[in-house]
Amino acid sequence: MASVPGIPSSGTNSPIPKGSGKDMSNNGMKDSAHSFKVADLVIELSLTQKAKPDLNNLIFGTEFTDHMLTIQWSSAGGWQEPHIKPFGNLSLHPACSAMHYAVQLFEGMKVYRGADDKVRLFRPMLNMSRMAKSAERACLPAFDRAELLECIKRLIQLDQEWVPKSDSASLYIRPTFLGTEPSLGVKKPSCALLYVILSPVGSYFSTGAKPVSLWADSKYVRAWKGGTGDCKMGGNYGASIYAQYEALDYGCQQVLWLFGDDHQITEVGTMNVFLFWTNEEGEKELATPPLDGVILPGITRQSILELTRKWGEFKVCERYLTMEDLRRALMESRVEEMFGSGTACVVSPVGRILYQGENLYIPFQEDCPQLASRLNKELTDIQYGRTHSDWSVIV
Ligand SMILES: Cc1ncc(COP(=O)(O)O)c(C=O)c1O
Repeated sequence: MASVPGIPSSGTNSPIPKGSGKDMSNNGMKDSAHSFKVADLVIELSLTQKAKPDLNNLIFGTEFTDHMLTIQWSSAGGWQEPHIKPFGNLSLHPACSAMHYAVQLFEGMKVYRGADDKVRLFRPMLNMSRMAKSAERACLPAFDRAELLECIKRLIQLDQEWVPKSDSASLYIRPTFLGTEPSLGVKKPSCALLYVILSPVGSYFSTGAKPVSLWADSKYVRAWKGGTGDCKMGGNYGASIYAQYEALDYGCQQVLWLFGDDHQITEVGTMNVFLFWTNEEGEKELATPPLDGVILPGITRQSILELTRKWGEFKVCERYLTMEDLRRALMESRVEEMFGSGTACVVSPVGRILYQGENLYIPFQEDCPQLASRLNKELTDIQYGRTHSDWSVIV
């Protein structure tokens, strides 16, 4: 390992970490004033550099860059200095609370390289805020969101050669936060590890931008009111895998998650969902379910709502949508498009829904529904720097 000139190398940590703070009232949960600071960053460079993968054969989340960011916290010592170090395995106590009780959360964001060779993040403070909210729900300590973003930027700068030179690929950023309490008690962790890894990715779905097929059934629920569906906690995802495989058994690619006796439409796989239709009052409307606790507040969802409200071309509404609303609208030819939204895919059109033994076909114009394509273009133009926007943050 080599140290970076001007930055203290690892092993020189003082016993009382800088920025750790003494006021750990409330276990440091609400107070980000004692957060780690980018100014204290310690960097150990990797002596070896891995070969970059072939962009055409990238499988989501399988390749990782040369470095990672790690930051330790304990209730006794507070936050320690952030470290950037060679990508490698973690060493965790076998009783670690993340492993036993899913005291864990993560984020998903991307950095994009533009034709001007500049590397940009998309609304990254929204990810930092969502992460802080998930951390509070998981009883993990508070941190300064802006300081974490600056640390992530430094990690990206170091591994910037990994940001693909392509307008269909990007570098995925996976901040992760674990409770590392080394005991089997079910309690607030007294130690935690926040880390960030980077992974070059291509298009999320193997079918590209082609419409996806969904299995809609109330047999499994992804989230419930008072649960953790509005936070990005690992347990939500691990518990969803079984249903995803059942969807495959039924010949569908993703699960359309329903909620309640009236089969409310909530999310599509790991995406928010939008319906572009003529509503019951005869108004052209873009609708998505409201953030009532069972929906993850997606950054793409928020961006689509803000963009389309700015266009002012049709009604934009956060409202409940049931399978019966959809079925009736399809029978009356009132549905124009339905699509999922998320960082991984941006916008993913829905083509077919298998519901109660019946295939419901969503109309689409060949492979490119008009609203989904327009949103995809507007958002990717911002992400890749083709359109100037203050949603873009240059790294
Ligand atoms: C359950 C769920 N819904 C929606 C989204 C979309 O969120 P975003 O647009 O922030 O990627 C994601 C992806 O993170 C997700 O996991």
